[in-house]
Amino acid sequence: MNKNGQTSTKRKIFRGGVKQLNINISSFEAVLAMIRTPGAILTLISYGSKTGFIFRLDIPANNPELVQFMALNNEKTALTKPVYTLVLKFAIISEDPSDNLDTLRVDANNFYKYTETLQDFFTEAYNQQDIYISTLSPSGNPVTISVVDFSNFDPTKGQELIDVVKPLAFGDRKSNEVLEYMKYSLGQVSSRRLGMITMELANDGFKELADVNAIAYNVDSNYALAQIFTLFTNRKLVNYDCHRGNILANPTPNMGEELAKLIDFGRVVGVADRTLQGIPATDTIEIIQLYNRVSGSDYETDRARVTTYRTGDLFIVESGRGTNETWVIDRMEDILKFIANLDYAVNCILNDFASTHWDKPQISGMLIHLYGEPFKNHWGTESNPWIHGTSPPAWTRIDDTIYKYRQIADFIRRIATQPQSQRNLVSVSAVQRMVQNGEIYSLNIGNNYDRSHVVLTPPPTLVQATMGGPQTQVIGPPNYNPRATYMPQRAYVQNNDSDYDLSNPLKGGRVKKNRNYRKSKKSRKSRKSRKSRKNRR
Ligand SMILES: Nc1ncnc2c1ncn2[C@@H]1O[C@H](COP(=O)(O)OP(=O)(O)O)[C@@H](O)[C@H]1O
Ligand SMILES: [Mg+2]
Repeated sequence: MNKNGQTSTKRKIFRGGVKQLNINISSFEAVLAMIRTPGAILTLISYGSKTGFIFRLDIPANNPELVQFMALNNEKTALTKPVYTLVLKFAIISEDPSDNLDTLRVDANNFYKYTETLQDFFTEAYNQQDIYISTLSPSGNPVTISVVDFSNFDPTKGQELIDVVKPLAFGDRKSNEVLEYMKYSLGQVSSRRLGMITMELANDGFKELADVNAIAYNVDSNYALAQIFTLFTNRKLVNYDCHRGNILANPTPNMGEELAKLIDFGRVVGVADRTLQGIPATDTIEIIQLYNRVSGSDYETDRARVTTYRTGDLFIVESGRGTNETWVIDRMEDILKFIANLDYAVNCILNDFASTHWDKPQISGMLIHLYGEPFKNHWGTESNPWIHGTSPPAWTRIDDTIYKYRQIADFIRRIATQPQSQRNLVSVSAVQRMVQNGEIYSLNIGNNYDRSHVVLTPPPTLVQATMGGPQTQVIGPPNYNPRATYMPQRAYVQNNDSDYDLSNPLKGGRVKKNRNYRKSKKSRKSRKSRKSRKNRR
C-alpha cells in the first residue's frame, strides 16, 4: 500500500509512452478531469527550489473508467497501462525582471522563490517533451518522463485552480502553506500568471540521487551518465542544471528494472552549431571566453570535435583486433569535459556564481562520482573579485573510473538498442505517427496555452435546463463524468492572438543574468541559505 492507501504493484517496466484517451478534450481538460475525479488526492513533493512548486496527484487505482491517460504496458507492446498518478509543476509567471516574490515560509523555514517568464517556463516543457520524444526510440527507454500538458492562467483563474486542488490536500499543513502562498503571490501583482506543467510520475519510489544508498548511487549515477551522453550524441544538448536533485534514482536497483531518469530541463543549451542555442546572444562571448580559460582549449575546436561522436561510437565492442574500450572511454571523457566546462562557463556568467560562492559546474556530483575528491573543490580563485575558471581540477582517473565508464558504455548500448523481442512500437516512425495523431503530447510554438477561459468548477446542477445562454451540458458532481467535456467552448486551444510570443525555444533567449543573485537586499542570510541548499546537491 502506498501512503494514499492504494495498492501499488512494483513496476518492473521501462516507461515508454503516454496517450490521452479522450482526444475530443484538450490535454488540460484531461488533467482537470483527473483533478476532479472523486477520491483524487494531492501531495506536496517539493517547493525549496528557486521557482517550482511540485505536487503529486493520485486518483483511485481501482476504476479504469476514470482513467484519462494510458502508458506503455509492461511488455512495451501497447499503450494500455492506466495512469493513476500525475506530477503538477507550478511556477509564478512574470515578464518583469524586477517583480520579486515575497519569502515563502513553510514550517518556520524561509524559502526565497522567484518568478519566471512564460517563455522560459514554456521552453522547459518544450525541451522536456522534445527530449522525451526523441529518446523514446529505439529502446523505449527515454531519458526523461513525458509531459502530458502545459497550461497557463491569468491570476483570477490561477487562484480558482488553486481553490479547486486545495481540498485534495485534505488540510495537509505544508500543502496549504504552499498553495496559499501561490494564491497570495498571484493576487499581489495583476500582471502575474500561474504556469503549470503536468507530467508523469518518474516511477513510484524513485528518489533524488543524493538520497539513495551507496550501491544504488553508483549504478544510478552510471545510468544517468549514460543518459547524459545519449542526449548529447543524439541531440547535441547540454543540460547545465544537471545536479543531483535533477536526477531521479531507483533506490533498490535491479538490472532488469528501470534505473535513473533525468528531469527538469529548464536550462538547456544546444550546441549543434556555432551559436549557443537557448542562451541570450549577448552573453555568448563572455561564456566562450570563460570556457576557453577553464578548459585551456578552444570552444569551437572542442565543439566541432565532440559533436561528431555518434551514440554507436560509445559502444564497447570486441573484434579480431581486440577491444575499442580505450577509444570509447577517451571519447566519453572528451564529451564529459566539454559538457562540464560549458556548464561551468554558462552558470558562472548567467548566475553570477561568485556571489553565491558556488564555483563548480552543476554536474559536479557526476564528476566527483567518476574522478573523486579533487572535483569537490572550487574551479576558480576565491578573491575579490572572484576569478572564475583559474583552477579547475585535473581530470585524473582513479581506481574505479574505468569500471564506471565500462558500465556507462553498457548502459548506453541498452538505451540505444532496440530489444529483439520488442514489437516496433517505439521505432522512430511509430513514435512520429503517435505524435502526429496526438496520441503522444507535443507542444507547438505558436500556441499560448492560456486556459483562463476554461470552466474549472461545474455548478452542482444541470445548468442547461434552468439557464439560457450557451447550450453546454454542464454536469455536476453526483453524475460527473470525468471523460466528458464541460467547457463552454474550446477556441482557446489554438488561440494565437497571444500577448506572449513563444518563439523557438532553443533560438530565443533564456534567463538573463540571474537577477535573483544581484540584489543584495535579500541579505547575506538568504545567500547563506541558498548556499546551504546548493551544497546539499
Ligand atoms: N515527474 C516527477 N516524478 C517524481 N518526482 C518529481 C518529478 N518532477 C519533480 N519531482 C521531484 O520534485 C523536485 C523538483 O522538481 P524539478 O522539476 O527539479 O523542479 P525545480 O525546477 O523546482 O527544481 C525534483 O528534484 C524531484 O524530487
Ligand atoms: Mg530541479
